[in-house]
Parts: sequence; structure tokens; C-alpha cells
Amino acid sequence: MTNAQKWVTVFLILFVLLLALSKLTNKDEKSSAANYSEENVNPNETVQINAEKLISQNKCLTCHGRDLGGSGMGPSLTNLSDNWEKDALINYLKDPSSFLNIARMAVLREKYGSDMPAVKNLSNDEISAIAEFLLKLKRD
Ligand code: HEC
Repeated sequence: MTNAQKWVTVFLILFVLLLALSKLTNKDEKSSAANYSEENVNPNETVQINAEKLISQNKCLTCHGRDLGGSGMGPSLTNLSDNWEKDALINYLKDPSSFLNIARMAVLREKYGSDMPAVKNLSNDEISAIAEFLLKLKRD
């Protein structure tokens, strides 16, 4: 090997090493960017946004009114915290009929032509998020 050939070989090896290194660091940047955005989601915000979405996706507004202030088919859902704790409200949403032994609920059911349907097809977490959201609603 001449001296010139040796230098060319050394440069080639260096070039390949640098290329490999830049590929590796690129990958690292991408995955840390993904972690960054996941960590930045505010958990309280997602609960709120999901609950509102779930409420409009699950026909609650049809009976409880567009602003949840009540309609001819269902009572207002503002100020629920006057009557409900979170756990009881979750149980109610899952099975409203089992609460008819509470006079207030029986009277409400009598008053409206439609019965409150049990919330089906939603996970416990989703129902819990809805309950949390509803308990924060207040009449102004
Ligand atoms: C078909 C009409 C209808 C739909 C749809 C409906 N509700 Fe109701 N809801 C009622 C009626 C009527 C009552 C009164 C009590 C009863 O029937 O058990 C009620 C009662 C309630 C109560 C208790 C109110 C109180 O004063 O304690 C809550 C909370 C509630 N509904 C939440 C929801 C949510 C959340 C949804 C959507 C997942 C929903 N409802 C969908 C008709 C409806």
C-alpha cells in the first residue's frame, strides 16, 4: 500500500463511522421527541375533554339539553354535587333503575316520560371521568 492509499482508506473508514454515528443520534432525537410530547399532556385536561366528548357522543344531550340544563325529556345536570358523591354517581350511571328506592329519583322518573338509560359500552375510567365532569357543573 502506498501512503496515499493508506490515507484514502483512513478517510473512508472515518466517513463510514461518522455516517453510522449520525444515524444513531438521529434515532435518539426522534424517540426523545415522542416521549416529550407524551409527558406534556396534562392529565386533568384530557379527563375534561374526553368527558365532554363522551357526553355528546352518548346522547346525554338529547334528554338533558344541549347545555345539560335540562329538557322536557330529562332533568338539569347542574348542581349534581348537592345530591351525589362521585362513587354513588358512577353506580347510578351504570344502573339508574337500582336507585328508584330513593324518593327523589323515583319522583324524577315519574316526572319525565323517558327513563334514564343505563350507560353501557363505556369503561369504568370513562364513566368515572363523566361523573367527575358532571359534579363540577354549577348553575350560575
Ligand atoms: C332517554 C333520555 C335520557 C338519556 C339519553 C340520558 N338521560 Fe340521564 N336522565 C333521564 C331521566 C328521565 C332522568 C331522571 C331519573 C331517572 O329516570 O332515573 C335522568 C337522570 C340523570 C341523572 C341524575 C340527575 C339527578 O338529579 O340526580 C344523571 C346524573 C344523568 N341522568 C346523567 C346522564 C348521562 C351522563 C347521560 C349520557 C350518558 C344521560 N343521562 C342520558 C333521561 C336521560
